[in-house]
Amino acid sequence: MEAFRVYHQYPLYYEEWITLKDGSAVFVRPIKPTDGLLLLDLFQKLSRETIYFRFLTHLNKLQPEMLKQLVEINYETHFALAAIITADTKESIIGTCRYIVKENSDHAELTVILRDDWQKRGLGKVMVTRVVDIARSKGLASIEILLDYRNEGMKRIFASLGYPVSYEPSILDIADRMEILLQEIKI
Ligand SMILES: CC(C)(COP(=O)(O)OP(=O)(O)OC[C@H]1O[C@@H](n2cnc3c(N)ncnc32)[C@H](O)[C@@H]1OP(=O)(O)O)[C@@H](O)C(=O)NCCC(=O)NCCS
Repeated sequence: MEAFRVYHQYPLYYEEWITLKDGSAVFVRPIKPTDGLLLLDLFQKLSRETIYFRFLTHLNKLQPEMLKQLVEINYETHFALAAIITADTKESIIGTCRYIVKENSDHAELTVILRDDWQKRGLGKVMVTRVVDIARSKGLASIEILLDYRNEGMKRIFASLGYPVSYEPSILDIADRMEILLQEIKI
């Protein structure tokens, strides 16, 4: 696979080990331009429901152009974290969480996706918290999340974080929308 171009300096300081409630250790780091194959591998392991909840459409494969967009990030207007495990010296990405700033604005959209066998273990909440904190530290005004109305996991994460969230049901009949005003977060 062709190596994707690096646009910006990799921000090493966002790397960390986290320990989940069940004791598993997961390495979380910013996505790198060389992560394409690991993301393809992750995509191939996802259930149809997980893919639908993330992309709000039924995707059978990640097209090269989309994959390129997912790894060619600049860590400012497009920031993404990957959660990594290592088994038998082989690394796997088991989830990602990112924000992408809308053109000429200080508003971003947040997306998150975890491999099915790593869901409901607390990882989604940690990754969302980190990405919201990073967006906030960069001075963004708000973050929106588009979600299927059945997505209880996502609703629970935001309910438990205690952020000031506004909730609009079903825009364009595709998805509900949550918005967090980042500069109003007190915690
Ligand atoms: C949504 C998603 C990121 C949640 O991540 P997760 O790691 O499974 O969630 P967590 O384990 O951190 O759970 C956070 C809370 O939600 C609850 N929860 C998680 N999934 C749930 C579900 N399907 N139904 C009900 N509650 C759920 C957990 O019990 C936990 O509650 P607590 O804080 O009271 O303990 C993950 O399920 C996922 O990748 N889904 C597919 C993609 C997606 O929906 N993306 C969102 C739109 S971009």
